[in-house]
Amino acid sequence: MSVNKEIKRITVHILQAMKARGEKISMLTAYDYSMARILDEAGVDVLLVGDSASNVMAGHETTLPITLDQMIYHASSVVRAVNRALVVVDLPFGSYQGNSTKALSSTIKIMKEAGAHAIKLEGGVEIEESIRRILSAGVPVMGHLGLTPQSIYKFGTYTVRAKEEAEAEKLKSDALALQEMGCFALVLEKIPAKLAKEVSESLVIPTIGIGGGQHTDGQVLVTHDMLGITKDFQPRFLRRYLELFEAIKGATEQYIKDVKAGEFPNETEQY
Ligand code: KIV
Repeated sequence: MSVNKEIKRITVHILQAMKARGEKISMLTAYDYSMARILDEAGVDVLLVGDSASNVMAGHETTLPITLDQMIYHASSVVRAVNRALVVVDLPFGSYQGNSTKALSSTIKIMKEAGAHAIKLEGGVEIEESIRRILSAGVPVMGHLGLTPQSIYKFGTYTVRAKEEAEAEKLKSDALALQEMGCFALVLEKIPAKLAKEVSESLVIPTIGIGGGQHTDGQVLVTHDMLGITKDFQPRFLRRYLELFEAIKGATEQYIKDVKAGEFPNETEQY
């Protein structure tokens, strides 16, 4: 795809400058070409090829089953659609934990085969070696703290994290450590707004919240939730901007009716 020279691509440096001047960052998930084109044209700053694809695209209960090759398929479709947004790709479960050599080779595969601009992984100091190794290859890394869905079987539930003092302290020190390691930004998922504010104010790098309240430097939602394509997931933090499940269902019912009645296609819709 040819690059439109009028459009200034978002870089990790631009995101950091946005934080410095107090401009909020918008981020949404994308998993396919058509949706990514719409979101990019609308002007979203960051597109996250999240491992939530495991849930919303493949229908799995958790993010654990999605593979590296499946993430690369989704990511390369998104990259082909984008002219402006920074494309960040999740390293899936099992592609980086406990093995920094594997973390680097998974990252390189994503960068080479999908053409991604950055990667995201979940966790704090316990994955320091992997983060440092990826950064040493020149790949920008986004951290992810709070509710980290790849650890769902450790947590047991998807409820708000870091409400207790000890977990909040660990999150604060992990956030500083991720910044010190060289991460360019940090997702804070489902933590108390007061804690997200404190962490955001303590960092130079931007924080992107999902269920972290008003004071993070940016916000991210799963696009299928924001557009109302998924309908059973209704956490407090989610604002639905459309009810597409019902709209698509209605349009499909009308199409079926028209086909059955012989009203589609009509004379102007044929050759
Ligand atoms: O996979 C994902 O969609 C995410 C966001 C919820 C931040 O990690």
